[in-house]
Amino acid sequence: MGQPSCCCCTFLLLLSVTLCRGQRLNADDGRSSCSRCNLQLFCNCSHSRFMHVPLVTDRALALDLSFNNITVVTDDDLAGHRLLRVLDLRGNSLSVIHPSAFDSLWSLEELDLSNNQLPALNHSWFRKLEALQRLNLLNNPYRYLGSPSVFYGLIRLRRLAFGGPALEELRRGDLCGVTQLEELTVHGNNLSSYDSGALADIWPLGRVTLSLHGPFLTNVPLASAVLADVSYPETSVILKDLHLIGNLSVQPLRESARGRVRSLSLQNLSISDEALVGFLVVSDGMPLTTLSVDGLTLTGEGRLEHASWTDHRSMDEFFVRKLVVLDIFKFVMTAKMNFLLQYQRKLSFIDSKLFLFSCQTIQLMVSVQYLDLSDNLLTDLTLGCMLCEKDGLLKDLRVLNMSGNILKSLSTVSRLVAKLTKLTHLDISRNSYSFMPSSCSWPSTLRFLNISRAKLTTISPCLPTSLEVLDLNNNDLSAFTLPLPALRELYLSGNKFLRLPSGKLFPNLQTLTIQSNTLNTFGHSDLRSYRRLQTLQAGQNKFICSCDFVTFLRSQFKGDGDVKLTDEGDSYVCDSPLYLQGEPVGRVRLSVVVCQRVLFVSLSCGLALFVWILICVLLWKLHTFWYLKMTWAWLKAKRSSKVRRRRKAKESSEALLSFDAFVSYSERDAGWVENFLVPELEEPSGTDSDDMRSPQPLTLCLHKRDFIPGQWIVDNIMSAIERSRRTIFVLSENFVQSDWCRYELDFSHFWLFDAGGDAAILILLEPLAKDNVPKRFCKLRKLMSSTTYLEWPQEEERREEFWRSLRSALKGEDEEDS
Ligand SMILES: *[C@@H]1O[C@H](CO)[C@@H](O)[C@H](O)[C@H]1NC(C)=O
Ligand SMILES: *[C@@H]1O[C@H](CO)[C@@H](O)[C@H](O)[C@H]1NC(C)=O
Ligand SMILES: *[C@@H]1O[C@H](CO)[C@@H](O)[C@H](O)[C@H]1NC(C)=O
Ligand SMILES: *[C@@H]1O[C@H](CO)[C@@H](O)[C@H](O)[C@H]1NC(C)=O
Ligand SMILES: *[C@@H]1O[C@H](CO)[C@@H](O)[C@H](O)[C@H]1NC(C)=O
Ligand SMILES: *[C@@H]1O[C@H](CO)[C@@H](O)[C@H](O)[C@H]1NC(C)=O
Repeated sequence: MGQPSCCCCTFLLLLSVTLCRGQRLNADDGRSSCSRCNLQLFCNCSHSRFMHVPLVTDRALALDLSFNNITVVTDDDLAGHRLLRVLDLRGNSLSVIHPSAFDSLWSLEELDLSNNQLPALNHSWFRKLEALQRLNLLNNPYRYLGSPSVFYGLIRLRRLAFGGPALEELRRGDLCGVTQLEELTVHGNNLSSYDSGALADIWPLGRVTLSLHGPFLTNVPLASAVLADVSYPETSVILKDLHLIGNLSVQPLRESARGRVRSLSLQNLSISDEALVGFLVVSDGMPLTTLSVDGLTLTGEGRLEHASWTDHRSMDEFFVRKLVVLDIFKFVMTAKMNFLLQYQRKLSFIDSKLFLFSCQTIQLMVSVQYLDLSDNLLTDLTLGCMLCEKDGLLKDLRVLNMSGNILKSLSTVSRLVAKLTKLTHLDISRNSYSFMPSSCSWPSTLRFLNISRAKLTTISPCLPTSLEVLDLNNNDLSAFTLPLPALRELYLSGNKFLRLPSGKLFPNLQTLTIQSNTLNTFGHSDLRSYRRLQTLQAGQNKFICSCDFVTFLRSQFKGDGDVKLTDEGDSYVCDSPLYLQGEPVGRVRLSVVVCQRVLFVSLSCGLALFVWILICVLLWKLHTFWYLKMTWAWLKAKRSSKVRRRRKAKESSEALLSFDAFVSYSERDAGWVENFLVPELEEPSGTDSDDMRSPQPLTLCLHKRDFIPGQWIVDNIMSAIERSRRTIFVLSENFVQSDWCRYELDFSHFWLFDAGGDAAILILLEPLAKDNVPKRFCKLRKLMSSTTYLEWPQEEERREEFWRSLRSALKGEDEEDS
């Protein structure tokens, strides 16, 4: 009994231990996850203090893990990321990467491992990355690349960067497998050992960037060997952070000259006079076409006379930015500089605190077509000195860029450049122009004028009509009234325009930019005035989102119309009405009530009218008016009858019955009444009767004859009925279907005929079914069903019978009464 239970216990114990361990492992392994992925499956997990590679969806195409605290990449951290194209791990504290950590990244095209703590590179990392095109290994503490070559097998590699402050040696074969590159970057500031030819197998090579600060200073043969390996005519050579002091330190550049490098770029260069002369000597006759120095510190005095014999005729372009002369007071530039300046077609001296070029120096620049003096300290005065009255000065100049200086007077600059007879482009943006004189003189060739970022408030005919491109962005303009017939592009962003300028001024305008103004609206008619306009940018304005505007803009976004809105749809934002403020116009939905106000009002009015008419028709159909009128008449008649009766009662107790019968009939049946009824009853002739006893004449009340004229008809009827013993109704189709007046009359009869069936005698002139009587004559219908009626016979012989019945009906009652 003890054994099985013990077994059971052991099993349970094991199970619980396993479970516990599973949990702990999970907790231990508990990798945080990152779900900041956008629709393009770019997952941005940078700056998140991850200590490990977080869990990210397998479908991610790009994974940015830069600037975290990841120290290790294990073999299954990135397992399953077969689709990943970009992996960015720079700026972590990576020191360990498992040899097969990247094995599943078959699609990886870009890998950045820079700025980490990798003490050594392992060739196993990259062995499966056949799709890799860009690899950055900069600034890790590895001292050498190691063999076998870590890049072996990266057949698609096009951009490679390696090295750092710790890199000490480059061996032959270290770059084995790297054949052709668009870009190679080597940081070798502390390089102390280089096998000649280590970089020589890379060809073609588009661009090489070398940081060889240390070797240039201390190990000239090494620097020379490196440069010799990467200098080809079609390769752009970029050298960073050089500090060149003596003649010796420039000797490595001899290798570039030997390699016939055509484009040399120096970034962050500090150079002494001696080194400068040395450089000019080294590059003497070199086919260098472009020399660019970005960040140039001159430590000497500018004494270049020892190099004045050198030949730089191939140098087409010379570019200097951020020139600093350390000792400006000793700096003289004594040499005749024409050996240097007469050949370039493109000259740039940018952001160098230049306030003056002497007229003589400018005179040397005989070939220059493009002169960029932007971001300096030129003033109207010094510009006047530079562009002095000398014949042929800058005679080939096409483009003059003086953006970002402290020029103030447009008339001065226009007068000075007017002598440049080939000038087409003038950039005087970011200066202090605040006033435009009424007329200016410009070169007739001027096509392009940039006066953006000034303080202009008005436009004047100072602007030349030859302009094709005019940039007036970021001024204080609010109106444009000058016709510029040749203008193709006009930039007016950042001004104070309330409406689009009239298109009639610019018959050739193709591009208009008017963002960030105070435009309230624009529409089809505005655009139609521009005959050639193709693109328009008008976002970031103070739009009033009226219906017309919203509809117009939507159709523009859809591509209706000839003009394309090329800025982002979301930059068109409503400023008013208040409830739409900040809403992108494209997303605004305005209701029909707001948009079709006139239509809506007229529609609802129309609808109301229609309903009203419908109700009226309905009431008319249901004879409501008739009923109302009749009820009113009845009430009125009732009252006057009561009054009458009271008066009568006062006069005599006996009611005076003056008629035997009141005859009610339709006007159309008047013939019958007058021709038959009246003669028969009022003047009876004994002759036509066999009855010996001639019937007594009866008195009839006929409305035509006996009603008191001037009295209200209903009153007349009331009193007639009251004064008559009987009421005879002559019924026919005419009676029930006849005109309205008669209806009222007859209705009144029935209504007033309180006595009911016994006082009424109905005569039917023609057969009349009770069902043919309209429903609203309910009294008549009732009478017809309760009272027997006499029918007027068509046959002559039966008429005697009829009269007798009628008379007896009239009389019979009489007898009963008496
Ligand atoms: C993460 O790294 C940053 C700098 O990269 C450091 O300042 C911070 O202390 C590190 N945090 C942790 C938790 O290691
Ligand atoms: C530069 O190299 C020397 C040895 O050649 C080494 O001692 C020194 O630490 C290196 N400098 C840096 C910043 O790694
Ligand atoms: C320029 O180069 C010097 C070495 O010559 C270096 O110390 C400095 O940090 C560099 N400056 C920049 C902005 O890279
Ligand atoms: C600079 O050095 C080169 C070779 O080392 C030499 O031929 C040349 O004369 C030197 N130039 C000057 C100005 O010392
Ligand atoms: C002039 O220089 C400025 C600033 O460097 C630049 O933005 C502009 O494009 C240049 N103009 C021309 C016409 O090259
Ligand atoms: C005009 O100058 C500004 C500032 O230098 C520049 O940003 C802009 O691109 C120039 N305009 C044109 C049309 O080149």
